[in-house]
Order: sequence, then structure tokens, then C-alpha cells
Amino acid sequence: MERSQITTYINANKERFLNELLDLLKIPSISADAKYSGDVNKTAEAVKQRLIEAGVENVEISKTKGYPVVYGDKLIDPKLPTIIVYGHYDVQPPDPLELWDSPPFEPVIKKTALHPDGAIFARGACDDKGQMYMHVKAFEVMMKTGTLPCNVKFMIEGEEEVGSANLGPWIVENKARLKGDIILISDTSMIANDTPSIDVGLRGLSYMEVEITGPNRDLHSGVYGGAVANPVNVLCKMIASCHDENNHITIPGFYDDVVELTKEERDEMAKAPFNLNDFKKDLDVEQEQGEKGFTTNERTGIRPTLDVNGIWGGYTGEGAKTVLPSKAFAKISMRLVPNQSSDKISEIFKNHFEKIAPKSVKIKVSHHHGGEPVVVSPNSAAFKAASMAMEEAYGKKPIPTRGGGSIPIVALFKKELGLDSMLMGFGLDTDALHSPNEHYGLFNYYKGIETIPLFYKHFVNNK
Ligand code: BES
Ligand code: MN
Ligand code: MN
Repeated sequence: MERSQITTYINANKERFLNELLDLLKIPSISADAKYSGDVNKTAEAVKQRLIEAGVENVEISKTKGYPVVYGDKLIDPKLPTIIVYGHYDVQPPDPLELWDSPPFEPVIKKTALHPDGAIFARGACDDKGQMYMHVKAFEVMMKTGTLPCNVKFMIEGEEEVGSANLGPWIVENKARLKGDIILISDTSMIANDTPSIDVGLRGLSYMEVEITGPNRDLHSGVYGGAVANPVNVLCKMIASCHDENNHITIPGFYDDVVELTKEERDEMAKAPFNLNDFKKDLDVEQEQGEKGFTTNERTGIRPTLDVNGIWGGYTGEGAKTVLPSKAFAKISMRLVPNQSSDKISEIFKNHFEKIAPKSVKIKVSHHHGGEPVVVSPNSAAFKAASMAMEEAYGKKPIPTRGGGSIPIVALFKKELGLDSMLMGFGLDTDALHSPNEHYGLFNYYKGIETIPLFYKHFVNNK
């Protein structure tokens, strides 16, 4: 396969490739908010149509207990390898809306310092509609240029942003038609547009909710204040006690199963270019913060965390109200690393919080969702193929990195299907995933479409 064949086809169809993505981005497929269920389903329908148009066969909207999985395949020869493409068509809620410079579901293209060729600003532009759609277009390119070298199966889900609870059962039920050689995913980041990298790890997750109840009703904070526990005060103290002065997590047993990297492995990791000043400047913080004894990349890549994702209770309306609240709540998530187990950590967390809650309050700890961490071998055939593909497209060998985010279904692909995943992501960490003004570079979009067929070629050649 000639790379020029691919680039010629992409160049001739650039505008259409872009417009099709913009149309997808206009549908608010927010899986977390039931108000948008019509739009989530509409997006599944749109993905189905686009797969059919690209030449995928047996395309169907496959029901689950939640939002459907869009499945389709193109099986050209049972003797050839099969690549299973995974992606998600759902997106995070866009809140807070007032921090967006343009409406989240009305995509616009603007230049930025890191994206001088322009970037698409919209919720889901990078995570994951833009990255998922590159695979649909790369497939079209291979079909239209007669260069598809193997079998392909598409599995695009609609519940990734809410924990993929129904995808696990779905892959078990569909085991028979999910036979393949590798799961190919573009839902992670790379270092920079001139520094390609490939994630060889994802963190796991354990997401909890804590409810603290003090007195049986809201009270006048003057009449009762000082004589009964304030659940907000209590919850804050409990949370604060979870980290020591070195930002080490204090929950007994929390680090028991954590795999410590060798000096050699850490030295290898440290070779990845990283500029702490740029990092701080981008976030407008004077100083970074994290676990003592670890670098910023180590803190996000190979160390577990505990973070409050939301906390509420008492009066939060306009003005002031002197109230001693009856209840306080917090959503707390922990990012996990090999070999921590999500269930075990959730249990440890629950027991610890129940234990440290003072007698003056009642506590309820519940579990939202979780997922196991994963590491991918940089010596696998798939990694080599991805590395060769990126080197061919970018003119530089990609650097293996450990991603801080989570894609819980990846561990289940391994457990249930016995399949490894290749995390070939093309976004940047600074593309504001889950934040206001999420965007995805046009360069990244087209480069991804160019790189994916090269992965297919090298993967099949090296098999
Ligand atoms: N695509 C992200 C995960 C990601 C982003 C991995 C960047 C590595 C680099 C995915 O859509 C995501 O946001 N996952 C959630 C987990 C889920 C259970 C809600 C996450 O990481 O918070
Ligand atoms: Mn994603
Ligand atoms: Mn996400």
C-alpha cells in the first residue's frame, strides 16, 4: 500500500470528512442525563448510517439494558486477521455552560497556539466522536482505494462516559461474533503534534459517594451551632484526613497491591519530553502538587489518587443563610494502578469511612462504578505495528507513555474475550476533554485518518 494513495484520497475528501464529523457533533449525546436519551439514540442511528455509507456490512443497532452498541463488520477472508475497532458516541455533560466561548453543540473552527491549522470546538470533538469517526473514515479510505488488508469489526458504544455498565454483559452475549486479533481504540492522548506517543497503560477507577447525616433536620446555626455535629464540617475533616503532608493517601491498605516501578522503568518513563513550566502555565497554577517523591508524569501515570469530584450540602443559594445543615454529600473517586483491584479498594474505602465517622453523625457509603487498570506490552505485535504506522505518518517514532485516564471496558475485553487493546490516541491532554471548550485539532483528525490504515497494513504484515 502506498501512503500517497491514502493521502490523495483524504485530500480529495477533506471537506466532506470534516462536515460529516461536524454533523455528528451537533447531536447532544449526553449519556449521563436522561433528558438527552432521544439524542443519544439519534447519534447511534447516525453512526449506523455512516458505517453503512462507508461500506461496513451487517450494521445494526444492538440493544443493551442501556444505550445501544452500534455493531458492523466487513469480513473479507477468514484466513486474514481481524481488527475490532472500539469507540464511544456518547459525550460528557457540557456544564458549566457559561464557561464555553461558543455553544458546545454548535461546532466552530478556531486556531489555537497548539493547533495553528485550526481545531473543532465542541463537546465530544476529541472525546470521542472525533477520534471514533477517524476510524470510520479510515475504513472508507481503505475501501475506496482497494487497500483494506484484513477483516474489521466495529463496536461503538453509548455509555462509556457513565461507566460502560451494560457493555460488559453485551460482549459476553456477543462473544461468538467478537472473535478477533486486537481491539483498536483511539480514545487517549499523545504528547504533542510533533511528538507522537502511545499510551501503554490506563488507570483503573473506583467511584464512591458518601452521605453524612447529622441532626434530623436543618437547624438555626445560632440556636444549635456549637452543640451538634455539622455534617459539612465533619465530611470535610474526614476527606482532609485522607492525605498526609506528603500527599500520600492514608487509608490503611490502600497501597498494598500497588506495583512499584523499578529505577530502570522510571528512568525510561522520564525520557518522555515534558515541560513543567508549560504544564503550570496552561493551568494557570503557580505550583504543581502531588505525592512526594514522584514526578508529575509519575503522579498521573503510575500512582493512584483520591479526589473529590463534587461536594455539597447546606445553603448554596444567593446571599447568606445561617443554617446548620442536616446532611452533607461528596462524590469521591480513586484512580488505580496495577495491581490494585477496584472492588477491593471500594471495600477498603467504605470500611475506612465508616470507621472514621464520629458517633455524632450517620454515614452511608455507596459505590457508583469502577474499572480495572491495564498495561499493554510495548513488545507486542500490535504495539510494533502502531509504532511503525506513527513513524511513517509523523516521521518520528512514538514514545510509550502511561495515560492517567480510564477506559474500564479495556480490562474486560481482556478478561472476557482474551483480547489485548491497542490505545492509539491522537488527541492532546490540553484539548479540554470533559471541560468547557473541548476541541480537536484538524491536523490530529486528518493525521489520524492517515495513520490508521498504516496500522492495518503493518499489523497484517507482521502477523
Ligand atoms: N477517553 C477518556 C479516557 C482517557 C482520556 C484516557 C485521556 C486517557 C487519556 C474516557 O472517555 C473517559 O473519560 N473515561 C472516564 C472513565 C469513565 C468510567 C467515566 C475517566 O477516565 O474519567
Ligand atoms: Mn473517551
Ligand atoms: Mn471521557
